Amino acid sequence: MKNETPKDALFALIKSLVETPGPSGQEHLIREVIKAEIKDYCDEIVTDALGNLIARKGKKTADGKRVMISAHVDEIGVMITHVDENGFARFITIGGVNPLTCIGGRVLFMNGVSGVIGVERLEPNTMPKHENLFIDTGATSVADSPVKVGDVAGFYRPAVQMGSRLVAKSMDDRIAAVVAIEAMKAIKTTPNELYFVFSVQEEVGLRGATTAAYGVDPDLGLAVDVTPTGDTPKSTRRSVALGKGPAIKVRDSSFIADTRIINWMVKEAEAQKLPYQMEVLEAGGTDGRAIQMTRAGVPAGCLSIACRYVHSPSEMVDRADVENSIKLLAGLLSKKIVL
Ligand code: CO
Ligand code: ZN
Repeated sequence: MKNETPKDALFALIKSLVETPGPSGQEHLIREVIKAEIKDYCDEIVTDALGNLIARKGKKTADGKRVMISAHVDEIGVMITHVDENGFARFITIGGVNPLTCIGGRVLFMNGVSGVIGVERLEPNTMPKHENLFIDTGATSVADSPVKVGDVAGFYRPAVQMGSRLVAKSMDDRIAAVVAIEAMKAIKTTPNELYFVFSVQEEVGLRGATTAAYGVDPDLGLAVDVTPTGDTPKSTRRSVALGKGPAIKVRDSSFIADTRIINWMVKEAEAQKLPYQMEVLEAGGTDGRAIQMTRAGVPAGCLSIACRYVHSPSEMVDRADVENSIKLLAGLLSKKIVL
């Protein structure tokens, strides 16, 4: 099968979002890209103290609820810890990065500098650890290194379409940002006051959503995030698969979704005759926890997009899942909510 890159608007938006670097704490570029995309489709946009981009759409009516939707816009990456006399840089990871997916890969620093990840000679039959890896920026000495201690890079890999599958780095969680943006555009009227939060620092512990949820003070909330699948050779036994529809989270290791939210999502999927799948994730967390645990507690859940190879430079989602997630989210938010 030949890889194709059709010129369609959805893929163009995905490509512009996933190819903008923004590891945790460095979300300023992606925030501007999203702000430009949404400004005509919401009523108010603010950036809070941590850098969360918060877009309000609609005003709370007698029949309405205040809803927080959270899609994190940070991504995994690396931070330089040391540059040696020959210009090779050592690093720590930002979020969960597997050393096996790093070797031979490229990184893009926030200042535009590129780097290649190399590995030391290893003893036979040993697995590489992060401390065996280094970044080669083309420098020949510490004096001419274009990067210094504390500099941050994201992984670099162009987005491609492979039939119905879409592949890119940072589908986690830019694909959810795309779902939130497209749902925002699709909602013409709503009795609800919707706060679309493009949250920061999720990969280092749900930090942005924690302050955003406190600030928004929602009646209920939904995270939108990717979830790993069980549909590849010898993967973890898990029933989430690509192409089986939006995944409705029941639990992950950070929170148990509110039963009322789960039922609300299932009912809407059935009313729209959308395919959907139930998600039980054994390990991993989402902004849903931050919403649920804020203040005195908030009913919260999570709409997940099935994704293969999560936290690798080639995260894969299914286009129909993305489109159906947009429809599900827009349907949920545009009507009166009865939990
Ligand atoms: Co992640
Ligand atoms: Zn994520």
